Amino acid sequence: MNNRGIVIFGGTGDLAYRKLFPALYNLHCLGSLPDDYKIVGIGRRDYTNEDYINIINEWTKEFSRLQYTEKDFEEFKKRIKYYKMDMTNMQEYNGLVDFIEENNMKDGLIYYYAVSPGLFGPISEGLKSANCLSEKKNSLEDKSCCMGDTKVIIEKPFGNDLESAKEIYRNLKSYFKDDNIYHIDHYLGKEMIINIMTLRFANAIFKGVWNREFIDRVDINVYETVGVDSRGGYYDKSGALADMIQNHLFQIMSIVAMEEPKDSSSKVIKDAQSNVFKSLKEVSPEEIDDVLLMGQYKGYRDEDKVDPNSVTETYVAMKLEIDNERWNGVPFYLRTGKKLHKRESEVVISFKSTSEGVPGNNIIIKIQPDEGVKINFNIKKPGTETKVIEEVGMDFCQSCILENRMNTPEAYERLIKACMDSDKSLFSQWEQIEISWNFINRIIDLYKKNSNKLYFYEVGTKGPKESF
Ligand code: BG6
Repeated sequence: MNNRGIVIFGGTGDLAYRKLFPALYNLHCLGSLPDDYKIVGIGRRDYTNEDYINIINEWTKEFSRLQYTEKDFEEFKKRIKYYKMDMTNMQEYNGLVDFIEENNMKDGLIYYYAVSPGLFGPISEGLKSANCLSEKKNSLEDKSCCMGDTKVIIEKPFGNDLESAKEIYRNLKSYFKDDNIYHIDHYLGKEMIINIMTLRFANAIFKGVWNREFIDRVDINVYETVGVDSRGGYYDKSGALADMIQNHLFQIMSIVAMEEPKDSSSKVIKDAQSNVFKSLKEVSPEEIDDVLLMGQYKGYRDEDKVDPNSVTETYVAMKLEIDNERWNGVPFYLRTGKKLHKRESEVVISFKSTSEGVPGNNIIIKIQPDEGVKINFNIKKPGTETKVIEEVGMDFCQSCILENRMNTPEAYERLIKACMDSDKSLFSQWEQIEISWNFINRIIDLYKKNSNKLYFYEVGTKGPKESF
C-alpha cells in the first residue's frame, strides 16, 4: 500500500512541534518518506501555511536529530500543509476531506491523534461522517475518500483508569480495525530498550544467568529533572503512576522479565510481555506501604493549572514481584520522579554474591541520556596481596560513538516509520494496557484505603528521603 500522508490532529501542540515534525524532518532527510508524502497539521489557530511553516522551521532547527540545513528544510517544507478547523464541529470534516483529496493523500493515510483523549471520539466521528475512514481496499463502489487501510496513532494517556481506557478503546474500535490502531509508548522506540532483547538473548553470558538463581534484584529508574511545565492541567489528573509507571516503566519491566519469544513476530513478542503482567504478584492491604511510596516535589502545588491542595504524586517508588518460575522471590523496584537530581534512565540487574563479603556483580543498561551497558565485576586487587577483591567496571558507551549517534533514530522517528510499514512490534498492545491498568487500579485502591501517605521532597534531590 502506498503511504501518501499523515494528518496530525493537534498540529499546533507541543508534541507535534517538539517531537513529530523533527522526526518527520529526519525521515525526510533519510529518504524514508515517499516523494509525494504530505504532512497536514490541524489546529484552531488562524495561521497561514507560511506562518505554520515558519514555526515548524524554528522547532525543527532546535530539535531535529540530524543536522538541520536550510536546503533540506526548503524541500521538507513543501510537504507541510496547515489546515484550520474546529475538531469538535462535525460540519468541518467535509472541508478536510476536500483538502485531503486536493492534496492527493488518500492512499494509506495515517491519522495521528496528538490531542487529549476527550477529542478522540469527536474526531473519529467527524472523519466517519465525512466518509474519511476506509477499512477496505478501494473499489469502484467505495466512495470513501481514503484508499487502503486508514491507521490511527494514539498517544497515552490511554485513559485515567481501566474503565476510561476501555471506553477509549471501545470507541476507537468502532471506527478502526484493531490492526490499524497504534498505541504509542515512545519508550518502546528508544534504542537501548529495543536492545534489551538482543542483550538478553544473543549473549550466552547473560542468557543463562537471567533468573532467580543468580539475580538478586532488578531496579528500573527513570529520573527526570523537568517538572510539569505547561502540562499542569493534564498532569494533576494523572500523576506519575499513570503518566510513567503504568506504561513506560511497565513496558521496560516486561521486556527485562519476559520469556524468550519463540520467534520475532510482533504477536509472539507482545504475548511474552503480556505474560509478565499476568504474573505480577497480588499485593495485600498490609503490604501496601512496603510496595508503594508516593512523593510530591515541594512547589508542585504552585505550578500553573495545579490544584493548590493537590495530592497528585510526582514521584513513585514501587516494589513488584513476578510470580513465575524464572522470577519468584526477586524484587523489581520501579522508580520515577520529576524535578529530581538528574535526568537518567537505567535498568540495573544486581546479581547475588558468590560468597559473604564479595560484592555481587551488576549489569547496568543505560537508556538515557547516555546509551550503553556497564558491567561491574570483581578481580583480585593488583599487587602482592592475593586475597583482596576489587570491584571494576567495563563500560560500553554506545552513544559516545559519533557514528552510532548519527545512525540511531529518535523514538518518534522509528515509531512513525514502523506505523507506515504496518509493523506493530514497537507499539503497546491493548491487552497489555488492560492488564497493567487492572494491576495499577488495584494498587491505587489499596493505597487510598490503607495508606494515603504522600512524602514531600526538595527539588533537585533523589526524591523523598523515605523512598526505597
Ligand atoms: C511522557 C510523560 O510520556 O514521557 C512525561 O508524559 C515525561 O511526563 C516523558 O516527561 C519522558 O520522556 P523522555 O523521552 O523525555 O524520557
